[in-house]
Amino acid sequence: MSDLSTTQAQTPDSEMMFGFWYRALPSSRVRRRKLRKAMLLEIPLVIGRDSQGRAFALRDACPHRSMPLSYGRFDGEEVECCYHGWKFDPHSGQCRLIPSLTADSKLKVERIYAGHFACEEQDGHVWVFVPEERGGRAGDASQLPPVPRLPVFSEDYKMVHLAAELPSSVDHGIIGLMDPAHGPFVHQAWWWRSRHSIHEKHKAFEPILNGFRMSAHTPSANSAPYKLLRFYANTDAITTTIDFVLPNLRLEQIRAGKYWFSSMTTVTPITRNQCRIDFTAAWNIFRGVPFMASLLRLIGRKFIRQDQETMEKQVAGLKHSPHLMLIDDADRPAKWYFQLKAAYLQARREGVAMKHPIPGPVTLRWRS
Ligand code: FES
Ligand SMILES: [Fe+2]
Repeated sequence: MSDLSTTQAQTPDSEMMFGFWYRALPSSRVRRRKLRKAMLLEIPLVIGRDSQGRAFALRDACPHRSMPLSYGRFDGEEVECCYHGWKFDPHSGQCRLIPSLTADSKLKVERIYAGHFACEEQDGHVWVFVPEERGGRAGDASQLPPVPRLPVFSEDYKMVHLAAELPSSVDHGIIGLMDPAHGPFVHQAWWWRSRHSIHEKHKAFEPILNGFRMSAHTPSANSAPYKLLRFYANTDAITTTIDFVLPNLRLEQIRAGKYWFSSMTTVTPITRNQCRIDFTAAWNIFRGVPFMASLLRLIGRKFIRQDQETMEKQVAGLKHSPHLMLIDDADRPAKWYFQLKAAYLQARREGVAMKHPIPGPVTLRWRS
């Protein structure tokens, strides 16, 4: 099959994937006894933190007459709707009080629930599990998969977070993330690389559960940061591994002797046409070097800004031309993403085990 003939099947459908954990907000923005609005997969949420410091997530709509609960009050124990004063337990969503009821009322208040979601904090973010059933009941939290976690390899490390909103569907955010060919054109910098440094690369990939891995390899020798790292870590044994895992997770690890750098990037669907990229990185490299965290934040911000600006431009084109072309081998990871997503959704629909679309290890070649 030619690339062009398969384009149709690979066109992003902007379908959002329910049944996963997503990052809703940075933990630092959720303060005790305060309510914050957030949105995941077109579900309006109100996120808060009780007086013990535990975060919670409710559907931002009162079960009475749909007033957003985020307009209400929160004393650290119960969320009170601003319209008729119904009160709810923030974690279970269970109704605690309906002020208009008389003492002889037969209404079973405790059977009324606001929509609520499983909610956990990890690596500086409030994560919310968005279930398959759109009803908004959290279900049994012990049945849920674990919250994704940034791998770290020593006790002491530094960490940064960066985020940017993109005006596109989650699909374009993700394939932008895994696209190796835009680097020399979008991310030019004198200390990193120029478009003239383009050269042929081959990288081995392998299937992993719900995703694929760029197998451990020695990073390309032509970039300044890797040269610096080789010098600093005083080792030639530098390896890097990059994983992509459904629905939206990119994990990268660089190991150099006892030194390491680890990052987790997620692209989170806010609505069908809007997503947010969150980048979290931790490292123990250059820890003795002053200002390293600030420098890395600066560089990371610049990279993300470049991607963001590129996508803002791309969206103008996507509005008018639904046709995409994905070419081998540079766009193969993007093809795999669409195939993985389709296989996953099909398996869910049919209630069978997912058939992994990547049969085994494969080497991709491209110039970048
Ligand atoms: S709409 Fe919330 S109490 Fe009536
Ligand atoms: Fe990029």
